Amino acid sequence: MPQLAGKVALITGGNSGIGFGTAKRMVEEGAFVYITGRNQESLDRSAAELGENARAIRADVTSRAAMDDVVATIRRDHGRLDIVFANAGAAWYSTVEDLTEEEFDKGFGLDGKGTLFTVQAALPLLREGASIIVNTSITQTMGLPTFGVYAASKSALRSFVRTWMNELRDRRIRVNAISPGVIETESYAKDMGVEGAAAYVERVVEEIPVGRIGRPEDIGNAVVFLASDAAGFINGTELTVDGGQTQIYAGHN
Ligand SMILES: NC(=O)c1ccc[n+]([C@@H]2O[C@H](COP(=O)([O-])OP(=O)(O)OC[C@H]3O[C@@H](n4cnc5c(N)ncnc54)[C@H](OP(=O)(O)O)[C@@H]3O)[C@@H](O)[C@H]2O)c1
Repeated sequence: MPQLAGKVALITGGNSGIGFGTAKRMVEEGAFVYITGRNQESLDRSAAELGENARAIRADVTSRAAMDDVVATIRRDHGRLDIVFANAGAAWYSTVEDLTEEEFDKGFGLDGKGTLFTVQAALPLLREGASIIVNTSITQTMGLPTFGVYAASKSALRSFVRTWMNELRDRRIRVNAISPGVIETESYAKDMGVEGAAAYVERVVEEIPVGRIGRPEDIGNAVVFLASDAAGFINGTELTVDGGQTQIYAGHN
């Protein structure tokens, strides 16, 4: 029996990287999946690849009105929502000396406000027993130079998960975080260029105990599990999916 048979899911940033890999896995597991993003071309391409059990909607997560429109569409089409994967995100790299107000606002706006608006918009449609999964990052606890705003905004999301778990307990809605390690996605070439990304992956893979780089589907598998009824007793936690990488940094600080 597929793990998500009959469930309806919303994935923000589902047109690329981890979000798209997770959308593929959810469709394979029997869910109908709505993906969002801002780039219409990649939304169309992704929806075509996902097939008839997926629909793409263009929406910026930093707009509450846009997220309300997304949920209104899901309500019209399906009348219910079982899974939210708040995944849309991006990183800006600056040390504390160089960090600009614009970078601060972008980082907390996208991760913090975007995740909050996604969940707030979805709540009226979420069924009892629904599952919310928030994408954080192993970098939130590593103290990596230049990751200040990114790590801090991901820590804020980890904190939201604890609070929301308690606030939504009467509705039996579970809230968990997923904390990916190094997952090779389109974002690497965007941030570092194609050659820079390849060099980074080659260097980092040596540090990962499982001996390979993470793939979007690795996160997809974990998100599918957290969204499934088999994870019905897992709540308020953070599932680290990093091939064991974080363990080799443990105790460095
Ligand atoms: N890759 C990693 O190693 C890694 C590790 C830890 C955590 N993460 C987290 O995983 C998530 C996905 O990252 P990724 O690596 O898969 O990157 P990616 O391939 O660049 O995907 C980012 C997604 O977010 C969407 N997005 C960005 N800004 C948006 C906005 N304002 N409104 C709506 N959608 C927006 C993008 O779509 P549009 O451009 O079309 O808007 C895209 O679909 C992020 O939260 C990231 O922080 C990644």
